[in-house]
Amino acid sequence: MQKVFLNGDYLPIDEAKVSVLDRGFLFGDGIYEVIPAYAGRLFRLADHIQRLNNSLAGIRMSIDNSVSDWEAIFNPLLESSKDQYIYLQITRGYAPKRDHGFPEKVIPTIFAMCSEIVPFAGKFNGIKALTLDDTRWQLCNIKAITLLGNILLRQQALDQGCAEAILVKNGYVIEGAASNVFAVIEGELITPPKSNEILPGITRDVILELAAANNIPYREDIIALEALKSASEVWVASSTREILPIVELDGEVIADGKPGEVWLKIDQLLQAYKKSLL
Ligand code: PDD
Repeated sequence: MQKVFLNGDYLPIDEAKVSVLDRGFLFGDGIYEVIPAYAGRLFRLADHIQRLNNSLAGIRMSIDNSVSDWEAIFNPLLESSKDQYIYLQITRGYAPKRDHGFPEKVIPTIFAMCSEIVPFAGKFNGIKALTLDDTRWQLCNIKAITLLGNILLRQQALDQGCAEAILVKNGYVIEGAASNVFAVIEGELITPPKSNEILPGITRDVILELAAANNIPYREDIIALEALKSASEVWVASSTREILPIVELDGEVIADGKPGEVWLKIDQLLQAYKKSLL
């Protein structure tokens, strides 16, 4: 049976139990990380731990673990033969009574499990997406476990036969329900700048680094919804789905309805970069 990590122990998943008084369960009071691992090697671990520490600081918590402490926790969960990801969740912990204010003495609940990365079916044909109003809160830079906004938006997209929702605020594109968004406009790759409106994606950083290193023109800038609709390419990017080209947005085809050449180039660069780290 699958083994998971819970508060210092490795347990069969069925034996890993958390109190119903845990603040993660009662309030969604916690944060998480999703860290890919290729052939058993954690991808950009230091970047993920930096973002984890930022999320913890954002909810007024801290965990005194180094990157190698985290690596030592995650490694026993990984298998070398598969592409996998670590899901790490940290909640404020168990408190004896339900009260909105932070408990005085509390020990964080730390949980980690490993799941397989299943390549996204249809990646090379492209996906459909739906634009929706961004109804989430104002601290989207924190990777909070409280994901109701995101899941309702993703489900609305799924209900209409789309694989992702592209979130829009005041006429500008923000990010996907669980991804960052990119567009190619007049030959330039554009993605919205980091702010409290988006999760600072690690895949997003890697894409921009690959563009810079390979002379692909890019900039971090706001994107109007109208500009997105007439872009020559639109993509979404995340650790678990990597980079997916969008070929249909709100029922209208993007460009010629096929994944674009800049996407193909960046995807090839990403696959080569992943292999170079093994
Ligand atoms: N989500 N924006 C949001 C809202 C996300 O949920 C994610 C990833 C990203 C991309 O971040 P990264 O490239 O670091 O995966 C952007 C993960 C995969 C999840 O919630 O499962």
